[in-house]
Amino acid sequence: MEALRGVDLVIGPAEIVALVGDNGAGKSTLVKVLSGVLSPDRGEIWFSGQRLGHQSPLAARGLGIETVYQDLALAEDLSPHANLFLGREMLRPGVLGRLGFLDNTEMRKRAKDTFETLGVDMPTINAAVANLSGGQRQAVAVSRAMTWASKVVFMDEPTAALGVIQTRTVLDLIRRVRDAGISVVLISHNLPEVLQTADRIEVLRLGRRVASFAAADVGIDELTRAMTGALTEAHA
Ligand SMILES: Nc1ncnc2c1ncn2[C@@H]1O[C@H](COP(=O)(O)OP(=O)(O)OP(=O)(O)O)[C@@H](O)[C@H]1O
Ligand SMILES: [Mg+2]
Repeated sequence: MEALRGVDLVIGPAEIVALVGDNGAGKSTLVKVLSGVLSPDRGEIWFSGQRLGHQSPLAARGLGIETVYQDLALAEDLSPHANLFLGREMLRPGVLGRLGFLDNTEMRKRAKDTFETLGVDMPTINAAVANLSGGQRQAVAVSRAMTWASKVVFMDEPTAALGVIQTRTVLDLIRRVRDAGISVVLISHNLPEVLQTADRIEVLRLGRRVASFAAADVGIDELTRAMTGALTEAHA
């Protein structure tokens, strides 16, 4: 079975592009292809004028591309701050020169600052992520992406488990990230949230891109019709 067919997506610099569509439309699959988790059977990915070969998620991160996966992809047995720095631990120069050792104090401080910026109450900064609430876990994943992204952030349902205040904070942060010149691809089932936050909205249905709108020019009814197939492909 094909999860995606002929999807053509362009992400401009410093724009928020929302991907919407019903369950199973292919949104997460598209993000996994673009962030290097899945390799596509065909098609091309271009990034800053260069064609990318198959990318590992690590290589994508090296290019400044960060992802908040729908399943969050956190290391359950590690603390929130360890998750924030997973794979990019800060080293303190040790007596042996470059070898060094993990600068836990600095990482904990930086993580605390990030959580504060996000308005996240993280009372148990040393506890394993497995013991956090759903909202707190989501906040850890969002914070990690925001900490490291320099070009693009893919966010697959970043607010699904968040309360009203945290959701507003994350949406504000997404706009601030965009204003700082980083592109954001936002997947959400919450259409008011999408209309409020995105610059452009791309609609996927059954693995195809069926419509594309400037967020300012579309409303919930038209989006819903595109998502359910009631709208013709005239807008694609
Ligand atoms: N590697 C793969 N190869 C082929 N099909 C896949 C692959 N991975 C997922 N699929 C299928 O592709 C379809 C789209 O799944 P995807 O997770 O992208 O949907 P989604 O739009 O993110 O939905 P949701 O809103 O429920 O998260 C599903 O039917 C899924 O079973
Ligand atoms: Mg999904």
